[in-house]
Parts: sequence; structure tokens; C-alpha cells
Amino acid sequence: MNTPEPTKSIPLTREFCLGLDIEDPLSAHRARFQLPQGVIYLDGNSLGALPKSVPQRLREAVEVEWGDGLIRSWNDAAWYPAPQRVGSQIARLIGAGPREVIAADSTSVNLFKVLCAALRMRPGRNVILGEKDNFPTDAYIADGVSRLMGAQFRAVEASDVLDAIDETVAIVSLTHVNYRTGRLYDMAAITARAHEAGALVVWDLCHTAGAMPCDLNGCGADFAVGCGYKYLNGGPGAPAFVFVAERHQEALDQPLSGWHGHAKPFEFVQQYQPATGIDRMLVGTAPQLGLIALEEALHAFDDVDMAALRRKSERMTELFIELVDQELDGFTVATPREATLRGSQVSLAHEHGYAIMQVLIERGVIGDFRAPNILRFGFAVLYLRFADVWDAVAQIKDVMATGAWKSDRYMVRKAVT
Ligand SMILES: Cc1ncc(COP(=O)(O)O)c(C=O)c1O
Repeated sequence: MNTPEPTKSIPLTREFCLGLDIEDPLSAHRARFQLPQGVIYLDGNSLGALPKSVPQRLREAVEVEWGDGLIRSWNDAAWYPAPQRVGSQIARLIGAGPREVIAADSTSVNLFKVLCAALRMRPGRNVILGEKDNFPTDAYIADGVSRLMGAQFRAVEASDVLDAIDETVAIVSLTHVNYRTGRLYDMAAITARAHEAGALVVWDLCHTAGAMPCDLNGCGADFAVGCGYKYLNGGPGAPAFVFVAERHQEALDQPLSGWHGHAKPFEFVQQYQPATGIDRMLVGTAPQLGLIALEEALHAFDDVDMAALRRKSERMTELFIELVDQELDGFTVATPREATLRGSQVSLAHEHGYAIMQVLIERGVIGDFRAPNILRFGFAVLYLRFADVWDAVAQIKDVMATGAWKSDRYMVRKAVT
């Protein structure tokens, strides 16, 4: 991008942002998404936008494959191998081999499966090491698995993780990009330290997959999980995915030994025999409509250079932070200011964050709120423009200048924040 950078003495302007859009090599991808008029969507880190080709593909799946094909579609429409197909599409985005990822279940369930299986691979060690500010489901599942298997879940501050990895640790279980602050772990360094101590590592990639490049195999990662509904745009409640490094697959003792993970499900034998490879991570019948939507949605990434996507994401989050500094008072940037230390979101702390976010949403600037005081703004750069960033900050500025957030109706907490 050749647009001259404003200096401290020349403030950022909307024209400058428009210039960044003109030079944006990814700008054409926005046309692949259905975005409501007048909305600036900064919540792709919670629920990705709808790729335009998904409704037609779903209509065909419902009316033709289900309606006409009926049960035959498990074979004729290739429903049965969809978890593997979708897994290999996701594999490209996260630095995995095509037979190391499978789409299945939810992130929470996949986490349960890999934590149990990984604990079984480290007899004699009983600690699952996690982080205090991880997404709660990761802590809940680690705690549940620990109680089930006689292990111990130990959660430490993010800054203490490296030092806390010792010879008692069986598994280090972390989320690569923190859901609240967007802070990024050094995947290579943590994985190397864990391996040095004889531990295995599980990465939660919910805020990584589709948001930035990731190199699981380059880092020597053991396991990973992640969801399909955020930056992968698979739709509400889309199937999740699970990665198991090829070297671990044959020894893996997966606890939810359901029939779709069996070596020969349609022989209907009573004895469980795990499938070879990543297929043993499957449990029961896959939700086909969800998989079909996710598969179609992933085509939005077909010709996307993930390095270019990251460059745009770094620049866009940087621009947002610069504009917050220039235009707003009273907000604290809760995300690392150094671009290489954050994912594709910026979080602002403000004591009235909930009410402020409700006004913004009403005005079409959609982010979300995470208790106790975080306004989250996600930057799904396949469909966002630099001018949107300017317009979003201008709206926040107006909400604060007018005191619009002070109305009682913005204080009422909704079930989903
Ligand atoms: C880091 C992280 N892990 C897990 C989840 C949710 O897991 P599930 O897909 O099982 O609801 C989220 C949801 O936002 C998340 O941010």
C-alpha cells in the first residue's frame, strides 16, 4: 500500500481511509458476502457474515438432496464424506495436512475428546495447564475432564504459562487468540517449551481460523480445535473442527467411541474398533445441513492469500487503534498495540461499555460486549473496508458526545451480549 502515512501533525482523515480501500488487494472479496445496507459489521469474531452462495447451496441441499434424494443422498450427494472434505478445506487455513483435520461436533465437545485422549497419552502425569483468562468453556471442560480422569486442572496468568510448564504437566491447553483481549500467544515458543518438558499441547483456534495464518505443523502442534461460525462464516452453530497431528493418530484413544468413529460403521458389530487416521475423532451422525453451509462458506477463502489477509488485518486493527487515540477519550485499548501480538480484533475497556455497545448496535455498528467492561470489535477483513473503520469510530465519538448511551433502555442486559 503506497498511500502516504499521516504523521503525528497530519491527522487521519476519512479520505486517507478511502485511499487505503482503493489500494486494498482484497477489496473485491466483499462482494462475496451478503451484508445489510447501512451496517458496519464488526462481530465476525462471534458470528461470521453470510457468504452469498450459501442460501442457494442450502436450498439445493434441502429441496433436491434431502427432498428428492432422501436417504440415497448419503451416498449419491456425498454427504457421508463431508466431515473429511470440510476438514481438508480448513486444514489449508491452519497449516495442517488434509488428513489431519475433520469437521465434527462443537468446539467444547472436541476439546473434551482431545483432552481425554491426550491425558491417556501421558500416563504418570496428571496436570492440565491452562490460562486464567481463557474462554470459560475451555476451563469448564478441562475441569470436567480432570474430575473424570483423576487429573488436576491448573490455570495460571498468561504471562506465567511458559514458566509453569514442568514435568508434572501432561497437557498445555490454550486459546491462541484470547477471546476478550485479542492477545496472541507465540504458538511456536509455547509448543517447543511444552515438548521440551514432555507435555502435549492443545490449541483452541476459535479466534484464529480464517482470521490470520496459522502454522500448526510448522510449530509441531499436537492437537487443535476450533469453531466454524466465527471467521469461517459457517453460520450459527456451524460444526466445529479438530486437528490431530498425523504422528498421534494411530495411538489415539478417543473417549466418545461412537459409531461414526468406528472402522466399519455399517458392519454393525458390537465391538468398538476405531477407524484409522483422523476419522476416529467422529462420534455420531454429522449435521449435514450445517456441514454443507460451512463447506460452501469456506469457498470464500479459495483464492485468498492468508499472508495478504494478515497484512490487511494488521493494518486495519492498527488504523482502528490510531483513530481511537485520535478521536476518542475515556476508552482504554485492552488489546496489544503491537500488531504481531494480537489477532484480528481490538477490545476497548469502558465502564459503560454495555450501554455504549447497545447504542452502536442500534445505529448499525455491530460489535459485542464481554463482561465486565469490554467492547469487542472484530475485523473480518474479507468483507470490511478501511472507510468502515473511520465510520465506526465516528459513530462511537458521536455516541459519547451526545451521551446517547445514558438512556435506561440501553442498560437492560439481553441474554446474549
Ligand atoms: C475461545 C473459544 N472457545 C470455545 C468457544 C465456544 O465453544 P462452542 O463452539 O463449543 O460453543 C468460543 C466461543 O466464543 C471461544 O471463543
